[in-house]
Amino acid sequence: MKINGKTRTCGLIGNPVEHTLSPVIHNHLAKTENRNLVYVPFLVEKDRVKEAVEGAYALNIHGLNVTVPYKSAVIPYLTEMDKLAENIGAVNTLVRTENGFKGYNTDMPGLLRAMETENYTIKGESVILLGAGGAARAVAMLCMEQEAKEIFLLNRSVEKAMAVAKEVNGIYKENKIIPMALSDYRKLPERKYLAIQATSVGLYPNIRDAVILEEAFYDRIAAAVDLIYNPYETRFMSMVKAHGGKAMNGLKMLLYQGIIAYELWNEVKILEETAEEILIKMKEELKIHE
Ligand code: ATR
Repeated sequence: MKINGKTRTCGLIGNPVEHTLSPVIHNHLAKTENRNLVYVPFLVEKDRVKEAVEGAYALNIHGLNVTVPYKSAVIPYLTEMDKLAENIGAVNTLVRTENGFKGYNTDMPGLLRAMETENYTIKGESVILLGAGGAARAVAMLCMEQEAKEIFLLNRSVEKAMAVAKEVNGIYKENKIIPMALSDYRKLPERKYLAIQATSVGLYPNIRDAVILEEAFYDRIAAAVDLIYNPYETRFMSMVKAHGGKAMNGLKMLLYQGIIAYELWNEVKILEETAEEILIKMKEELKIHE
């Protein structure tokens, strides 16, 4: 592309940033749309988040993504917050407004859109959500927003599961989230569940691990999502499939969180065929051959 006086800049702030796939997503989108926009990673040191956000605004940066460990740390420096991002308490997208950046969370809408492309639904489903960290807490909100029938929140430390359940139930004024220990899956009502794996267990290089290794658990799973995409098929996913369920990984979530950010920055709607092209590029980048 030609960089000239009208080129707009978007980017990613985080630490580290060198392994990010976001430039692949956004630069491909800009190229497809013939938009004069570049997307670059910005490494930000721990105590310089305020300067980074204010400096980006001063430099007329068009939009930013935010990654680990700053998804909450940026919030004090924003002038406005989207409701979902506020509930989640984490921001991954900053949209330029007249007087500062507005914070959004496109991770959860990204997960939803990814699931929809694979014909998964949350509405009316009985969900088993594994984990009680930041990712699981956000997924719990998504399940509430999407009106899941019930959400069994299973975590290694049951206290954390209880704290997340209490908080999220409180925000939505419902009692759909039921906290449990991992081994308590045996007490779940006999039915088929949608499982969402939101722990860090199974992530490369610990590819032989799964948060639950007991075969009996997997008989209960009709469909599953693992938020991990490295490895491309986690042990959790293989076990779901071996027991007749369907399983998807988190790569499409990453893709769609990027697409939704791009749509917010540029007030456009990206076509499904473009999304599919980018997914191929992401897999090339990750050296995934199916
Ligand atoms: P994130 O922000 O990605 O959600 P996190 O807040 O560190 O990361 O949460 C990690 C999750 O993985 C937690 O649910 C954690 O369980 P605990 O709350 O009991 O710590 C879970 N997790 C990590 N390692 C685990 C392990 N070896 N076995 C079971 N759960 C594990």
